[in-house]
Amino acid sequence: MIVLGIESTCDETAASIVKDGQEILSNVVASQIDLHSLYGGVVPELACRKHIDVILPVIDRALKDAGLHSIQDVDLICVAKGPGLIGALLIGINTAKALAFAAGKPWIGVNHIEAHIYAAMMQYIHVLQFPLLGVVISGGHTSLLEISELGSYRLLGQTIDDAVGEAFDKVASMLDLPYPGGPNIEEMAKKGDRHRYPFKAGVVKGRPLDFSYSGLKTSVLYTIKGQNKSKGATTAISEEDKPDVAASFQHHALIDIVNKCQLAIKEYNLHGIVIGGGVSNNQYLRQLFASQIPDVPVYFPPAGLSLDNAAMIAGLGYHQFMKTKTSDSFDLEPMTRIPF
Ligand code: KG4
Ligand code: ZN
Repeated sequence: MIVLGIESTCDETAASIVKDGQEILSNVVASQIDLHSLYGGVVPELACRKHIDVILPVIDRALKDAGLHSIQDVDLICVAKGPGLIGALLIGINTAKALAFAAGKPWIGVNHIEAHIYAAMMQYIHVLQFPLLGVVISGGHTSLLEISELGSYRLLGQTIDDAVGEAFDKVASMLDLPYPGGPNIEEMAKKGDRHRYPFKAGVVKGRPLDFSYSGLKTSVLYTIKGQNKSKGATTAISEEDKPDVAASFQHHALIDIVNKCQLAIKEYNLHGIVIGGGVSNNQYLRQLFASQIPDVPVYFPPAGLSLDNAAMIAGLGYHQFMKTKTSDSFDLEPMTRIPF
């Protein structure tokens, strides 16, 4: 089954062709980083306009890269239905509906967060041993899920304030690093001493699997600005100290995730860990999992599937469609939030 995936939840416009939920024939991503970095973060109105400009050329490119001639060669259209920015979602969903209607093809909406986790499972879907621990770490989510089978999730813990990716982005801004902050912090941290600053991620009383990053973020702010923490204030640290701040922040933000995963695995008797979302791209996190939990299989997304992409949408959408073989209704609306 040849599936077209479409992704437009935030600041990436993406399209991909995936065969039978596993074989990626093309994976095209048009990033808007240059556009938004001017403003230090995603500007929703600009994101929507850019999606409109590029979505059809991106889909065309995905069809061509996969060796297909037209939308008629596709058997199913899958689109991210949320969570995300409302205007951005509308463009992806309306494009999918229009293509499905015009070509007479079935189409379905796919949960972007579920798809992030599927990205790590895609290559192993027929050999994975459930139940698994799903870990969603992105700019909008920090959640632990029990996955009893594909499509069946139970929320075990989540952040009570900032998402971990959001904390990376905010700390990057405090260190005068450009948007998106995560990869820039990771780069800067390579030259730093992670033991220099005794930061700590939050503990939520009575909820050991929940996360909190606002206290950690404030500690970093005080370290950088001293007590005068207004945005324009001069820094209390020197340029040479910055890599140590980046490394200490990164270590404490990420070791907290690894520790809580270890706890969840034991508590719920889970057979492995699948990790998805932009922060899963962090190589230091991968090292931490390997060193701290060496005896549990941990699955990360392969290259190109950590950040927002449409292959994960087409891949998961295939399995979702095969369960009912039913197209979604044209009444389906985008969902800015989808609770687990
Ligand atoms: O999944 P994603 O592309 O978009 C959302 O659905 O949010 O995740 C984006 C987030 C941003 O906060 C970005 O700073 C973070 O993932 N990120 C990273 C890394 N690469 C991206 N955080 C830490 N280390 C990285 N290498
Ligand atoms: Zn995402």
